[in-house]
Amino acid sequence: MAAESPAMRRVQVAEHLRLLKLKEMFNSKFGSIPKFYVRAPGRVNIIGEHIDYCGYSVLPMAIEQDVLIAVEPVKTYTLQLANTNPLYPDFSTSANNIQIDKTKPLWHNYFLCGLKGIQEHFGLSNLTGMNCLVDGNIPPSSGLSSSSALVCCAGLVTLTVLGRNLSKVELAEICAKSERYIGTEGGGMDQSISFLAEEGTAKLIEFSPLRATDVKLPSGAVFVIANSCVEMNKAATSQFNIRVMECRLAAKLLAKYKNLQWDNVLRLDEVQAKLGISLEEMLLVTEDALHPEPYNPEEICRCLGISLEELRTQILSPNTQDVLIFKLYQRAKHVYSEAARVLQFKKICEEAPENMVQLLGELMNQSHMSCRDMYECSCPELDQLVDICRKLGAQGSRLTGAGWGGCAVSIVPADKLPGFLANVHKAYYQRSDGSLAPEKQNLFATKPGGGALVFLEA
Ligand code: GLA
Repeated sequence: MAAESPAMRRVQVAEHLRLLKLKEMFNSKFGSIPKFYVRAPGRVNIIGEHIDYCGYSVLPMAIEQDVLIAVEPVKTYTLQLANTNPLYPDFSTSANNIQIDKTKPLWHNYFLCGLKGIQEHFGLSNLTGMNCLVDGNIPPSSGLSSSSALVCCAGLVTLTVLGRNLSKVELAEICAKSERYIGTEGGGMDQSISFLAEEGTAKLIEFSPLRATDVKLPSGAVFVIANSCVEMNKAATSQFNIRVMECRLAAKLLAKYKNLQWDNVLRLDEVQAKLGISLEEMLLVTEDALHPEPYNPEEICRCLGISLEELRTQILSPNTQDVLIFKLYQRAKHVYSEAARVLQFKKICEEAPENMVQLLGELMNQSHMSCRDMYECSCPELDQLVDICRKLGAQGSRLTGAGWGGCAVSIVPADKLPGFLANVHKAYYQRSDGSLAPEKQNLFATKPGGGALVFLEA
């Protein structure tokens, strides 16, 4: 199971409208027929926010929306990329000289991340060229992982062009690592679920070693995604990396406080593992060791006995070196409590008590509060949307993905779904100023979808 590769499926392209349209557009763009197609899905994270890069398990499911790429390998060493969305301009480069510009998160850079990851994994300097037409229907900058889906899709495209084989786990690990070429220090959740997802089930994703376990969601409830319509591109700001660094610094200070070797500690889970105590106990240690007032760089240096120069160059990422305030207590409290909520969520799904939808909803509500107050990764519009969802019948609602905008996910009793959708639509999207387009892709019920795969024309 662990070594399983992404599926390769033969399809009648003429019977799949989206594939057929893509094939026709490919033909008018490149004057030829695609050799194969690859799809990689976006995801919604049900619970476990901002803890994957701290080493803790998360609980996402793939959604039906995805990135689909039509591909034709060519004999030249040129990579030509086009997108069905006119907002994303064509791009071409030599496949032997991949440069990823970290200063601008341009769409094609995500493709290059996936390609470069595979190229480096096999130690190849000469890659064959290819023509690719990309078609995505995951709303961008909405917390549903449109960028990772593109990285994963490009990784699988490159692997297929090379005629090589890798397991889903290997692909997920390579793509998680190579997406960091964009400059964000993300964890591995998005890439893992994009490859390891299976239809009909959410997954508990655990790290080091990476593995995915089925989590059966309650049959009496539906998960609804609602977009706050506040766009958040995590590569365009340093907020995301600041949180990663705050967690890293908190881990080091906690380790130091407990007289552990702290200099090689990078993640909050390592402190827990070294102490061999529970998450609840880690919350108590956090309260003893850290203070709620923000830390400045000088205080951190004093605590660790290092110079400002060492802090900047050896611990912080390039885009966080000038940060003046770090909230370590709040971030560590969020991470340890959120990690515990993920495990409780999974346990409730397994035990399936009668009031499970209510219990799961409460955990989702607590998660949102912690994201809002302790991790400070929400925004007023998301808070308002989550409140509306709860008032209109959701048992629980929370921001999903990186936050600071993007989507909320709600758990809604199945019999309340039609009324819920209609009322949320009225309350959030039909504003008097008409500023939010009531598009179908802003508010929809979702089911666990399948993972990345390759289509060949039958
Ligand atoms: C982004 C990152 C993930 C994860 C989430 C927050 O989606 O890519 O690795 O950290 O944010 O939970």
